[in-house]
Amino acid sequence: MATMDFGGVLEDVVTRDEFPMERAREVLKGEALAVIGYGVQGPAQALNMRDNGLNVIVGQRPGGRSWEKAVRDGWKPGKTLMPVEEAASKGTIVLYLVSDAAQRELWPSVKPHLTAGKALYFSHGFSIVYRDLTGVVPPKDVDVIMVAPKGSGTSVRRNFLAGSGINASFAVFQDATGRARERCLALGVAIGSGFLFPTTFEKETWSDLTGERGVLMGALAGIMEAQYDLLRKNGHTPSEAFNETVEELTQSLIRLVAENGMDWMYANCSTTAQRGALDWKGRFRDAVAPVFEDLYRRVKDGTEAKIVIEANSRPDYADRLRAELGAIRNSEMWRAGATVRALRPENWKAADAGGKTAAGEKTGAGRKKAGKRKAARKTAGGKVHRGGKKR
Ligand SMILES: NC(=O)c1ccc[n+]([C@@H]2O[C@H](COP(=O)([O-])OP(=O)(O)OC[C@H]3O[C@@H](n4cnc5c(N)ncnc54)[C@H](OP(=O)(O)O)[C@@H]3O)[C@@H](O)[C@H]2O)c1
Repeated sequence: MATMDFGGVLEDVVTRDEFPMERAREVLKGEALAVIGYGVQGPAQALNMRDNGLNVIVGQRPGGRSWEKAVRDGWKPGKTLMPVEEAASKGTIVLYLVSDAAQRELWPSVKPHLTAGKALYFSHGFSIVYRDLTGVVPPKDVDVIMVAPKGSGTSVRRNFLAGSGINASFAVFQDATGRARERCLALGVAIGSGFLFPTTFEKETWSDLTGERGVLMGALAGIMEAQYDLLRKNGHTPSEAFNETVEELTQSLIRLVAENGMDWMYANCSTTAQRGALDWKGRFRDAVAPVFEDLYRRVKDGTEAKIVIEANSRPDYADRLRAELGAIRNSEMWRAGATVRALRPENWKAADAGGKTAAGEKTGAGRKKAGKRKAARKTAGGKVHRGGKKR
């Protein structure tokens, strides 16, 4: 562990210096890594471990979309791709990466295969922390460990391929073999984590559920909608309202925050903007603080977990989620966003350059982009000329 100063608080973290990939290979030598579930985290972690030279198999229900995806990714039915129970019985470490609701449903068929000395691995503490609701109570003689990437599985894979990594937290819930911690860290390194920071199953679950309901997703979308609606109500056009609410944030300001912190972003804006933002920051913080209190209480007492389990156990849960996302996509605000995105200069350039073959004929990709551009012109209502200027 390396002790690092996080804003004046000393914390122990694990970097590749303390735990290089060679050590991870040594720890995982002789282990069969059974990745159960091939949704978002499953593919990323399975492919990264496979690329790192480890012995990986995938367990997935046959015939579904994820099974097909696994075949396309090179997993061989009957050899490295098999039904869930078969993979659970062959794996010495079972990486339980079906959705949290499915973990509850599949548990009775997975549990019997968790024999003494095996390890059960999660990427979220949900099933264990809310075990009164999920029934996921592992046998006493297996290790129970977690590596929770702090990002989408898509980024876990993309960053790995780009030679970087997504930070992850890690925790040991049960150490039956005396090797739980080193197995856990080895897996964290093998799936391509950036640095790993220690947590507990409870802390990870509570902070994760709060974060996604709060700033990362729920609050973000809510606060954007509130500002967009206010601007529209006061006669601003959709493109103006969208640019002032979303586009400027995603294309400029949040990138500066990512690069060098909030004060750096402020410092790169006008002094008018800085004065106003500094004055209003506290008001927004105080206005939402009670909502966050309520959120954390509901996460901790299991109210949010009950909602998730109930909603995502319905047979049509995926259709319902798709419908709700469709409603967002089809709202004026996000349709305006689609037009704004289509008008980004890089999309103009890509359509102009990439869309033509050497003979000057339009390729499929080019046609698609040109089509988008036309749609953007139509939606925007005005005549748009090359270079994006309106007349
Ligand atoms: N999404 C992320 O980026 C992310 C980030 C950090 C942590 N995590 C954690 O990682 C774990 C996996 O999450 P995920 O988002 O990757 O899951 P997901 O995409 O929702 O997983 C869906 C997978 O579960 C399978 N599945 C669903 N219901 C099933 C059932 N009844 N029987 C058999 N298989 C079933 C699906 O197969 P079919 O296609 O056949 O339905 C699919 O392979 C969770 O604990 C989650 O909290 C996720």
